Amino acid sequence: MLDTPKHDSQPRHAALQGAPIRAMRAEGARVAVELADGRSARFSTRWLRLACECQECGDTASGKRWLTPADVGKAIHAESFDVSTPGQVTTIWQDGHVSHYDAAFLAGHAGGSGPVRFQPQLWHSDLTARLGRFAFDAVVADDETLFQSLRALRDHGIAMLTGVPAETEATARVAGRYGPIRETSYGKVFDLISRPDARVAGETARAQIPHTDEPFRYSPPGFIFFHAIRTGAGSGGTSLMVDGFHVAELMRTRTPELFELLTRHGVTFHREHEGEVFFSAEAHVISLDAAGAVTGIRYNDRCLAPQWAPLERIDGLIEALAELTRLICDPQNQFRHQLQPGEVLVFDNQRVLHGRSAFDPTLAVRHLRSCNIDRDGVHSAFRTLARRFAPAEAEVVLYLQRAPTSPLWGGRSAGSGEGPGADPARTGFLAPAKRGRGGREAVGEGAARRSSIPSELR
Ligand SMILES: [Fe+2]
Ligand SMILES: [Zn+2]
Repeated sequence: MLDTPKHDSQPRHAALQGAPIRAMRAEGARVAVELADGRSARFSTRWLRLACECQECGDTASGKRWLTPADVGKAIHAESFDVSTPGQVTTIWQDGHVSHYDAAFLAGHAGGSGPVRFQPQLWHSDLTARLGRFAFDAVVADDETLFQSLRALRDHGIAMLTGVPAETEATARVAGRYGPIRETSYGKVFDLISRPDARVAGETARAQIPHTDEPFRYSPPGFIFFHAIRTGAGSGGTSLMVDGFHVAELMRTRTPELFELLTRHGVTFHREHEGEVFFSAEAHVISLDAAGAVTGIRYNDRCLAPQWAPLERIDGLIEALAELTRLICDPQNQFRHQLQPGEVLVFDNQRVLHGRSAFDPTLAVRHLRSCNIDRDGVHSAFRTLARRFAPAEAEVVLYLQRAPTSPLWGGRSAGSGEGPGADPARTGFLAPAKRGRGGREAVGEGAARRSSIPSELR
């Protein structure tokens, strides 16, 4: 993309639902808040001080930030709160610092339920009816169509672009709308053409079990673009796409002990072209976030190194990989599609596995053009456009590591009103440590001088 104009007209916290604030007062190390809708909540005073984004404190989104957590000590307290200006709360701290907060921002954080989390829409062979299809011309020229395709990628991890010209330049042109193209050892945009002296399996005519690409890298490709130039209709080579999140959930339900092995123990993948490259990475085949939700899949049977697991675990691990292989080879779990020239299949390589049936190389030359864009580049494009086209979706959490009952939130339901920094006794949050040597602690005034940040870093 990134010919998208700047868009600072949207309020930063538009996504946060919240009632205006009726009153605020200090309550020990907490700040009690009364919302106009009758709910009450409490914030951590330190959290509130750190939420200041005045010119002096700077702001964390741009990174031009001058206040650090070490500048706000445990004894911080507010002298006064003023809620008389609609939509705004003004706090004067004991050192005289004045903070202005957007009341909607504070009310949005007072619910205690945390940010909205993205829910992937799982699919199997039924994707045919649901697959998002977007025309090349519209994706290139119209930001809103681009946004709709990014939304499809968020939800299904896969989308189809149609009417893409066969020129090399068109692959990069459309892919570049989704983020910067990642250069790999194969180049930026590379051609996969079936040929007798194949260097990688993609260049042969043999069938390929659905897999994710390059699991042997510490950070495998994010989104992959397959641009069909020539496909040789009738010669085979049907694309087989599998939703790795769906398959992982099947394993979690049917064989929880095998699911657990793939989420808790590392598997080693490797790739060596002698004298040129030697990649090797140990990683979880199924990645979970702290809440136990699946956030990533990494699996390619052709790159599995001989594993180093202890004897008592190795057979279980192999059986888990065998079960995963059976599931991704099951046609019920596959979306099958014969790519046509001009189509581009875009998919999240850390969620969707891709493969293909064998084809007859004597009947046709198969030519795909491919490139990669990092997952965070695509998600950044999504959030940036969501600010314009669907503000409520811009701050939805996509694949972040986050605790199920985050100590920050205390795990209390909305209405009972624990904002950030809930009661330690109820949350398991560590009790405040005893003061260290001399009880030196930054509390606002002169905080920079008294904090533990050395002066040359100021
Ligand atoms: Fe591949
Ligand atoms: Zn400030």
